[in-house]
Amino acid sequence: MKNYSLPGFTINLTTLFEFSKTLQNFNRLPLFESAHNALNAKFENQTLGFFDWPERIPAEEIATLQQISKELRARYEGLLVCGIGGSHLGAACVLEALRSEKEENEFPIFWLNNVDRWAIERAKSFVSRRKVATLIISKSGNTTETLSGFFHLSRFLDPKGTVLITDPNSGELRRWVNTHSYLNLPVPPNIGGRFSVLTSVGLLPMALGGIDILALLDGAKQLRRHLATLNLLDNPAYQYALASFWWDKKENRSIHYLMPYLSQLKLLTDWFVQLWAESLGKKNTEGMSVGPTFVGSLGTRDQHSLLQLFKEGPQNKLIGFIDLKENSESLKVGTSPVPSPQFEYLCHHSFEEINSKALQATAKSLNSAGTPTYQIVFEELTCRTLGAFLLFQELACAISGEFYQVNAFNQPGVEEAKRLLRESL
Ligand code: PA5
Repeated sequence: MKNYSLPGFTINLTTLFEFSKTLQNFNRLPLFESAHNALNAKFENQTLGFFDWPERIPAEEIATLQQISKELRARYEGLLVCGIGGSHLGAACVLEALRSEKEENEFPIFWLNNVDRWAIERAKSFVSRRKVATLIISKSGNTTETLSGFFHLSRFLDPKGTVLITDPNSGELRRWVNTHSYLNLPVPPNIGGRFSVLTSVGLLPMALGGIDILALLDGAKQLRRHLATLNLLDNPAYQYALASFWWDKKENRSIHYLMPYLSQLKLLTDWFVQLWAESLGKKNTEGMSVGPTFVGSLGTRDQHSLLQLFKEGPQNKLIGFIDLKENSESLKVGTSPVPSPQFEYLCHHSFEEINSKALQATAKSLNSAGTPTYQIVFEELTCRTLGAFLLFQELACAISGEFYQVNAFNQPGVEEAKRLLRESL
């Protein structure tokens, strides 16, 4: 059994290992050690900035961030956030996972993360109906979509309620900070966009949305402390990275789905996809194109659209499920409006039970066809457990980068398209 207990969640990798004889027999210690040494070297030369950031984030930065958040919440009726990719998905997925409907109504947040006409018109309608604070998040300070959306909407916005989150030294937004004294927060230079959820990039929008950011950071710290007590062979981040790598490279399953059975985690799959796809999909040190295709999907909904393909279509997929441990406050289905003996059995079950059983049934059915699956189960969905989960994924992704022999921290393909767009405009 490869069922690992981590702070706030478990990850069960059993079938990933049981279904591949070659993986079972693979002597993984040398590979783990070499990845570990490479990551340690990056840590030492400070290119692996994300890993200990929850401990390193300056207390003054947290204080400033909380002060800004408190003032903006008091003075404005909602929030517009302009940002894309890593400057959007981290905070957006945590807010979607944890915010209550009441909080959404009290302080609505609109994310402008696209430049199609529809998105711009919707943003315009949002900002023209209420007095909003604004966050402009761009590490580089020169992303066309983020800036053009902001320019267009700026006539509706209060510069005093506008905060720029950008590189501390370079880029056009930093120049604005220096010349026009905008409220601002820095993005650590050694933490790239998709690894920046636990920096000011993610923390300020989350704080504004009512998330307990100290608990989130604490969850990440707990994860780090826990992993530090394990030897490499028992470290689930290494085992998870290895299993995903192995099924792609050695068993030709190059499509990796993450399928939460929780609607509020749908956006988390977008964050997951960006993190892994942009980090691994590139040329390796030998010039070969590598990297699996990552896809997010949602249970049980997509059982009714994708499961057929998973089960009988090309056997080129690996599926990860996410579930939530049942708690005592379960919600029962209740009786049918029309007596219905055929469905009598349903009335006594809870939705949590139906949902989890659907997940188990799907996993069982896929496993019986030889499809490898893994399961992540959250104890509860809180700031703490999500903080631990986010850091776990970032670390596993960085480890995977070593297995694939790619630089997990650059994105030349994305940068080229950004440059071509700027040139063509
Ligand atoms: O992960 C990345 O580096 C990218 O996805 C960026 O986050 C995205 O392109 C936005 O860049 P920026 O924050 O510079 O506007």
